[in-house]
Amino acid sequence: MPESPRDQILKLRQEIQRHEELYRKKHAPEISDFEFDKLVDQLADLERQFPADAGPDLGIGDDKSEGFQQADHRAPMLSLDNTYDEADFRAFGERLYKALGGSGLEFIVEPKVDGVAVSLTFEKGRFVRAVTRGNGARGDDVTANVSLIRSIPRTLSGAPDLLEVRGEIYMELVEFQRLNREREAAGEPLYANPRNLAAGTVKLLDAEEAKRRQLSIVCYGLGACEPANAFATLKEFKQQLAAWGFPIRDDIAVQQGIDAAWQAIQQLDVLRRDLPFPTDGAVVKVNRLEDQRRAGTTSKFPHWAVAFKFPPDQAETVLRSISMQVGRTGAITPVAELDPVLLAGSTVARATLHNADEIARKDIREGDTVRIQKAGEIIPQVLSVVVAKRPADSQPFNFEARLKELGLDAVRVGDEAAYKLRAPSRDMKIRRLVHFASKQCLDIDGLGDAVAEQLIDLGLVDAPVDALKLNRGEWMMLEGFKEKSVDNMVAGLAQAKQRELWRAIHALGIPNVGMQTAKDLARHFQSMDALEAAKPSDLLHTKVGKKGGVSYESVISGVGVEVSESILSFFSDPNHRDWVQAMRSAGLNLIEAASAATVAGVAGKTFVLTGTLPTLGRDEARDLIEKAGGKVSGSVSKKTDYVVAGEEAGSKLTKAQELGVAVIDEAALRALLGN
Ligand code: IVH
Repeated sequence: MPESPRDQILKLRQEIQRHEELYRKKHAPEISDFEFDKLVDQLADLERQFPADAGPDLGIGDDKSEGFQQADHRAPMLSLDNTYDEADFRAFGERLYKALGGSGLEFIVEPKVDGVAVSLTFEKGRFVRAVTRGNGARGDDVTANVSLIRSIPRTLSGAPDLLEVRGEIYMELVEFQRLNREREAAGEPLYANPRNLAAGTVKLLDAEEAKRRQLSIVCYGLGACEPANAFATLKEFKQQLAAWGFPIRDDIAVQQGIDAAWQAIQQLDVLRRDLPFPTDGAVVKVNRLEDQRRAGTTSKFPHWAVAFKFPPDQAETVLRSISMQVGRTGAITPVAELDPVLLAGSTVARATLHNADEIARKDIREGDTVRIQKAGEIIPQVLSVVVAKRPADSQPFNFEARLKELGLDAVRVGDEAAYKLRAPSRDMKIRRLVHFASKQCLDIDGLGDAVAEQLIDLGLVDAPVDALKLNRGEWMMLEGFKEKSVDNMVAGLAQAKQRELWRAIHALGIPNVGMQTAKDLARHFQSMDALEAAKPSDLLHTKVGKKGGVSYESVISGVGVEVSESILSFFSDPNHRDWVQAMRSAGLNLIEAASAATVAGVAGKTFVLTGTLPTLGRDEARDLIEKAGGKVSGSVSKKTDYVVAGEEAGSKLTKAQELGVAVIDEAALRALLGN
């Protein structure tokens, strides 16, 4: 029986909500924007046809997340309606001509930057805050991380008293690739695309890590403005932005009429391939602000602007075989080996297939002709199979059988998507050892790929820690090692044993624990013993809401649900506890050296930060306190020594007053810190 419209609507709504969550909260979408927009359009059509079965607004696009102060937008931050073909686009033009009465319409045509929208507020010409779109009326205050973008001017001369500048924060492709090369070298999973990484970085609570990732911005819009008549056209506003020093895009001149605007879109489709940021479309806006006001808005979109989305680049090719890639942690990723094909300016010969479920869901088989796509994502995806071109003798792909053929003894644990090797392979052992000795871990000079291979093949090393205990005779067994090189290696190992605690933590290769998290863990736990003994509640605070829902609050920056599960599961493996024991008996330093800058009065004290401090960013304040030997916690309890309160402090301040915890301001904090 066909589904009733009511059921169809319900199902679509659930599906859309699931994808929205994957995109906004997890920054890990499973489908492209193009596919997502299609679902949203389908729902809108159905709800128009069957208004009685329509549900409440889904709030798509709301990016607000936990752990941020919020701020109101003085003028709403609207989104854009999408068009996908010429007819759609011309209909937008028709509506405008009707509303505004005919001739003389001017348009601005810009690239649609694929990033995160942000509103920059300037009061009396001074930059005061940066806020995400949120639900359009109220968003997250992300001033701390946005302040790291150098190209945003801090003061504007001759600016209106109040000015909201709207723009898009993005990550340049070269920066995205640089960060992914680092991830690859460290054996960590790669970031999916620049947009998600930019969104994740804007919301990062870890200041050090945020500083390492370079964000950029393009400004394109006017929010609230007092006095309101400061600008007559968008073009004029953009020129003023450029004069103040904001980065803007001015690729295309003002266009007279909708035909010219359509031509400009075609021009942009060519231009965009050479832009340094990802774009998935063009934005067309009415130039004169008076015309914009007359055209008006819906609750979500302006009538005076529209996005034209370029279809993602796709190609058809033959999938010759499926190979298996084994990561440092033993996780297996299936990869499509393709007949090379030209796609979006580069030759593609491989595409990720994610995991076994993905292959089964799309029924992807060796020998199939497949459609592949590159849409913002740098790593191509296999979209679907062209079933009509399937060879007659084709067989469904048997994932487990293939693993067996390849001699890969892998299992799937719990609800994880990936198969993982049960015992480490030669390759994994080598990579683990190289990671252990790398610059970002114990930094053992001379222990690179070639030496690691020999150590594993000769059976001298199994677990990476074994390398710390080799004697001179054993080192002499390696090709090319003579008295002198053995001396150097022994001296290098002695040095490696004295290094900082975070290096030993990073060297363990705990999945999802990168260098920055290792540093945070070292600072928080102060010793390997304490980290090894950590209970779930030491890593993450659990809160049960009134309706029984559970939410988590990070205790350590960068340690959320996934990372804490990873840490707990790592240390629950007796093998891994043996490694730590071997580290101890080899004499490796496993405690955090006392910070030289420890300040009496702060050391050992617990602080809670709330509200906006006059000059210090949240992360800056945290850093100063931690460097002086203090701790920063997310919630107020009887154990809290000081609550540092700034403007618009909320419930934490009230709680402190109830519990009689000392409340201080930034000046008093600085006094405690001795500066
Ligand atoms: S104008 C009311 N211009 O696309 C005007 N938006 O899908 C709204 N975007 O929320 C924005 N490049 O985050 C505008 N040149 C551009 C843009 C742009 C990217 C983003 C923006 C907006 C979203 C709508």
